[in-house]
Amino acid sequence: MSHIANGVNLLFPAGERFFVRSVRHYLPRVTDERLRADVRGFFGQEGRHAREHERFFEIMRAQGFDIDGFLETYQRVAFERMERMSPAALNLSVTVALEHFTAVLADNALSDGGLDEADPRMRRLLLWHAAEEIEHKAVAFDVLRAVHPSYALRMTGLGVATVALGIAWVLAVRMLVRQDGTIDRVAMKRELARVRRERQIGRNVFWRGIREYVRPDFHPDDRDNYALAASYLARMAREAVAA
Ligand SMILES: [Fe+2]
Ligand SMILES: [Fe+2]
Repeated sequence: MSHIANGVNLLFPAGERFFVRSVRHYLPRVTDERLRADVRGFFGQEGRHAREHERFFEIMRAQGFDIDGFLETYQRVAFERMERMSPAALNLSVTVALEHFTAVLADNALSDGGLDEADPRMRRLLLWHAAEEIEHKAVAFDVLRAVHPSYALRMTGLGVATVALGIAWVLAVRMLVRQDGTIDRVAMKRELARVRRERQIGRNVFWRGIREYVRPDFHPDDRDNYALAASYLARMAREAVAA
């Protein structure tokens, strides 16, 4: 579970900066003042997430993980090649699909207790990120709807996002598992099966997300979970005051 969480952690910072670039490209075409304000809030939140997750890279390096070769390849393939080659509209629709996946994972993380066994500091980082992902889950979607309201484009973005995230995440986890000398493969498979059964993460969460997203009239607000995010952030603030 640590390697699965740490694997996606490695993808976040560069991914989130890509989200910001994809949306910023279209900002001059967004005329609605409220949406423009939401976009600026989205930039701020993603920037802070990227920085906090990057601070965690230091901890992984200190634990002896050689992550820089992976990060360099990820950066080069995903952003120096794929992002530059693909049209701005596709980049935006990939961002919207990935934002949907993060919102679905966030909802799952805040509601099913899947992070209860995590280190409390890591749990706070991931749940804070999850709550903010829910807060801004509709922003990139609304920008795409304003500038390119095409179902085919949204579905193409979903396809690219699913394959790219799937491959990158699996490669990241494999790289970490390979470097961890303490892992017994049989025990690892058993643990994965248990987690999948009990927590409904992995395939089930992604299938649910895809099923929602392919509906032609889908909107991120269809799932009303803003209160879930707000109550977590309020609790976090109370705990910070108490500490
Ligand atoms: Fe984020
Ligand atoms: Fe986000």
